[in-house]
Amino acid sequence: MRDGASSPALTPSLALGFDFGVRRIGVAAGDTLTRKANPVGIVTPGAAGEDWPAIVKLIDEWRPRLLVVGIPYNEDGSESPMTERARAFARELGLRTGLEVALSDERYSSLEAEGRLREARRSGARPRRVRKEDVDRTAACIILERWLDRPPTDGNARMISQLYADGTLRHLLTLDGLDRRLIEYLIERAQGFLTVAGSAPPRSAALSGVTVANLFSEPSTRTRASFELAAKRLGAEVINLDVHLSSRVKGESMLDTIYTLAAMSIDVFVVRDAEAGVPEFVAAHVGPHVSVLSAGEAHVSHPTQGLLDALTIIRHKGRLDGLGIAIVGDIRHSRVARSAVQAFTTLGARDIRLVAPAELMPATREFAGCSRLHDIDAALAGADVVMMLRIQRERMAETDIPDAAAYFRRYGLSASRLARARPDAIVMHPGPMNRGVEIAEDVADGPQSVIREQVTNGVAIRMAVLEAVGGAILRSRRAG
Ligand code: CP
Repeated sequence: MRDGASSPALTPSLALGFDFGVRRIGVAAGDTLTRKANPVGIVTPGAAGEDWPAIVKLIDEWRPRLLVVGIPYNEDGSESPMTERARAFARELGLRTGLEVALSDERYSSLEAEGRLREARRSGARPRRVRKEDVDRTAACIILERWLDRPPTDGNARMISQLYADGTLRHLLTLDGLDRRLIEYLIERAQGFLTVAGSAPPRSAALSGVTVANLFSEPSTRTRASFELAAKRLGAEVINLDVHLSSRVKGESMLDTIYTLAAMSIDVFVVRDAEAGVPEFVAAHVGPHVSVLSAGEAHVSHPTQGLLDALTIIRHKGRLDGLGIAIVGDIRHSRVARSAVQAFTTLGARDIRLVAPAELMPATREFAGCSRLHDIDAALAGADVVMMLRIQRERMAETDIPDAAAYFRRYGLSASRLARARPDAIVMHPGPMNRGVEIAEDVADGPQSVIREQVTNGVAIRMAVLEAVGGAILRSRRAG
C-alpha cells in the first residue's frame, strides 16, 4: 500500500491550521504529503467576535480539504474556558465552510513556536525580534504539523481497533475497553510462562519467523529488556532501535522510520514514546498483518505494566475483587496508574484508593470509581495492596518538583506506615524506584515487597502478549 501511486499517503491534500486566540487567530497551510506547514496569516477578531468574512476569504483562496483547530487545555489536560471557546470556533468554522474540521491538542505549541523563532533568529535566518503575531502564525504551523504527523488521540477518539475481525488481539495500545476475557486469557497464559525461581525459563520456537522491533525513545530498563527476552524466548528475531541514535535525530520523521523498518519485514513494533498518540499513530500506518504494542505512552498508557501488576496481585491474593488497593504518589503523570486501574477495575476491583498531594492528583474526570485521599495513613488502613509510584520529574516543570525529604515525610512508605495496612499486604512499585523519596529502603527490600516479582512477571506477560499477536501473524501467513 505504501508503494502504490494511489496510496492515500501519497495523494497530497491541502489543510489549514488555526491557532485560536481571543486577540489573534494564527493560520498556517500544509499538506498531507510533506506534512510540513507554513504561516499564512493572522485574523484579528473585531468587537463582535471572529472576523468570519476574512476567514471565509482565506478558505476561498486556499481551497483546503481539511481544517485543523488547536484546542487549548490546562497543562494537566483539564479544560479551561478557552477550551470551549476554541471548540465553538471550530464548530462555527465547520458550519460556515462545510469542511471537515479536526481538533488537535495545542498544548505547548506557543512555547515550541517561540523556541523555533528564537532559533531561527540566532542562526541568522530571522534577524527581527520575535513578535506575538509571528508566534501565533508559527503555533498554527505546529498545530497543523502535529496533526499531519499523527491522528488525534484524545478522549474516545482512538481510531485503531486493537482486535482482528475474529476478536483476537492485533495491537495492544491500551487496556481501556479491553474485554475482561481477553485480559484473563493473557494473565492465564503468562502464568504458564512462570517457572519456579532458579529453574531455567521456558523457551519455545512458537514465534520462529516473527521479527520484533523495539523502538524506545524514552529510557527503560525493565520494559525494554523484558520485551527482548520474551521475544527471544519464544524464538522470534529482535532488533532494538534506540530512537535517539537513529536517523530520527537527522530529521527523519517517525513515519519514515516506521516505513523503513517495515521494508525490513518487521512484524511487531514495540513502541515507547514520551508523546501521547505515538503508538496509535504507528498502528495506523503499518500493514494489515503487523502489530503494535505500546511499551509506555507519555502519561497515558502502559498496558503490559497494568497486566503484570494484575498478574502479581492474582498470584498473591488469587483475585482483584474485594481487595483494598492503595496507589500512592504521582498519579497525575503516571501511565502505570492509568493502566493498572483499567486492569484492576475490569477484573473486579472496587476499592481503589488514590493517594497524592493535590498537585499530583489527576483531573476529576479521570479514574472514575476510585476514591481520592490526601492522607496516606488513612488510605493505608486495612489495605491489601500498596502500590507506590515515583515522582515523574520528566513530565513536570522544575519548579513543581516537590522537595524529596519533605515528600518522604508526607507520602513516603516507611515500615511504620506500612504497619497500618493488613499484615499480609503486598508492596508494589513499577520501578524505577527512588529509595528514600517514595519508599524506604527497608520496605523496598522487606518481606512484603513483591517488586522483583513484578519484574519477573513482566517477562511472562510480554511473552503472553507476543505469543498472541505473533501467533495471529503466523496463522495469517500460513493461510496465505
Ligand atoms: N516499569 C517500567 O516501565 O520500567 P522501565 O521504565 O524501566 O521500563
